[in-house]
Amino acid sequence: MKQMKTPLVVLNFKTYTESTGKNAVRIAGMCADVSNETGISIIAVPQLSDLRAVAEIGIPVFAQHIDGISPGSHTGSVLAEAASDSGAIGTLINHSERRLTLADIDSAIQAADRAGLATIVCSNNIATTKAAAALEPDFVAIEPPELIGSGIPVSTADPGIVSGAANAVSGINPDVQVLCGAGISKGEDMQAALKLGTVGVLLASGIIRAPDPGDALRDLVSGI
Ligand code: G3P
Repeated sequence: MKQMKTPLVVLNFKTYTESTGKNAVRIAGMCADVSNETGISIIAVPQLSDLRAVAEIGIPVFAQHIDGISPGSHTGSVLAEAASDSGAIGTLINHSERRLTLADIDSAIQAADRAGLATIVCSNNIATTKAAAALEPDFVAIEPPELIGSGIPVSTADPGIVSGAANAVSGINPDVQVLCGAGISKGEDMQAALKLGTVGVLLASGIIRAPDPGDALRDLVSGI
């Protein structure tokens, strides 16, 4: 288990224009400012092509995806070691927008472990959360797909799935920490997530698409 300071904000840049290329670096700078002001850990998760430039800002950076492959003859795949060489210290695995089979998730976790990357496995319900926890990632992030990008926060719209995931994971492997995501954008959403047994949030549009992402981040962490 790679130790990360909690509570934790994990900001997925996805493929929004507002967080691609130069904009990725701009948003990462805002993450760095808010993290320095507040002491809260903010992890940036840019597209693979922006990993190195964002890592040079000096904040923790995760890849959006890696494949469960070893170095060798593969084309169009993401090698864990390459993500690490580009500055990533961890990776998402099985995001709802990049789903994998259970066997692929297992291989990807093994590849991440080999390269020294921390792992956040995303799950869509309590059953898949249990399966993910059994594979011993560092974190599981519960994200009901119907709430992703909706602006309706999972921590208030479906608190039962968040606390249920936290309870299920602690029964399977107490070393695995739980995050939640989908529709999170405000300080009250994050506070609710922490009260439900998570160590932080995984979020995107509420910050990336806000008129001022820096102010949105400040609001998010204001109640911690
Ligand atoms: O990875 C974060 C995510 O899927 C939630 O997205 O836009 O609802 O914060 P969003």
